[in-house]
Amino acid sequence: MATQTTAKKKPVKQTEAKAAKKDTQKEMVTVFIMGKAHEVPADATIMGAIEYAGYQIKRGAGCREGFCGACATVYRMPGDYKIYTGLACTTIVEDGMWLSQLPAIPSQKPVYDINKLDPNVATFQRLYPEVFRCVSCNTCTKACPQDLEVMDYINAAMRGDIEAVMDLSFDCLSCGLCAIRCPAEIVQYNVGLLARRLYGKYLAKESKQLKKRIQEVKEHKFDKEFNELMKMKKEELKKKYYERDTE
Ligand code: SF4
Ligand code: SF4
Ligand code: FES
Repeated sequence: MATQTTAKKKPVKQTEAKAAKKDTQKEMVTVFIMGKAHEVPADATIMGAIEYAGYQIKRGAGCREGFCGACATVYRMPGDYKIYTGLACTTIVEDGMWLSQLPAIPSQKPVYDINKLDPNVATFQRLYPEVFRCVSCNTCTKACPQDLEVMDYINAAMRGDIEAVMDLSFDCLSCGLCAIRCPAEIVQYNVGLLARRLYGKYLAKESKQLKKRIQEVKEHKFDKEFNELMKMKKEELKKKYYERDTE
């Protein structure tokens, strides 16, 4: 049960109270989420700010770590004519930011059988003819939160240079932000995906290490470790993940 204390508290002077309030205010910023103003912590990501403001994100969130591309967001800043793009899970809010998350971006994606395709420019011409409407404006590159040379990989697709498309688009998250800005209405990330599939199927050199590892998996060499992982709690798994060796 809560009890009332009899000890006299030191009265907080008006000026101190004001200063304390000001300090708290310093750490908050105003952002406009789908047109409505909200006070949110200044160090929040856009995704954190949306949730802090009381919205539940049902679509438009996945990994929350900048890997899955599910949280494409567009925003404008006061007095700035530019439209900015970013991932909601990794972009920190700024005062006055006017933002909207784009939970899904419609895209052209033809169905194909990779076994029946040729790894050449004719395949791009047939499946993604709009690629050849590129006007080299570089807007896609500016929109990319991964800092990829998007225009360069589209130009490589026009030349049929599958290896270059594969290489330049390798870190694409399929967030779709390039596609919504493209005046030629190209869906760049699907073009990159096609190139990576063509490269993997027809052009990549055989990897002896991969072959060996697949054989080891088939021989159940890693079953014990795999079973241990399956039994781990989420926090343990997280710790293990962040402590892993990476190149
Ligand atoms: S290339 Fe396009 S879809 Fe891929 S990460 Fe960049 S903006 Fe997103
Ligand atoms: S935004 Fe579209 S038209 Fe402009 S460079 Fe990129 S792919 Fe080409
Ligand atoms: S939620 Fe996966 S990249 Fe943002």
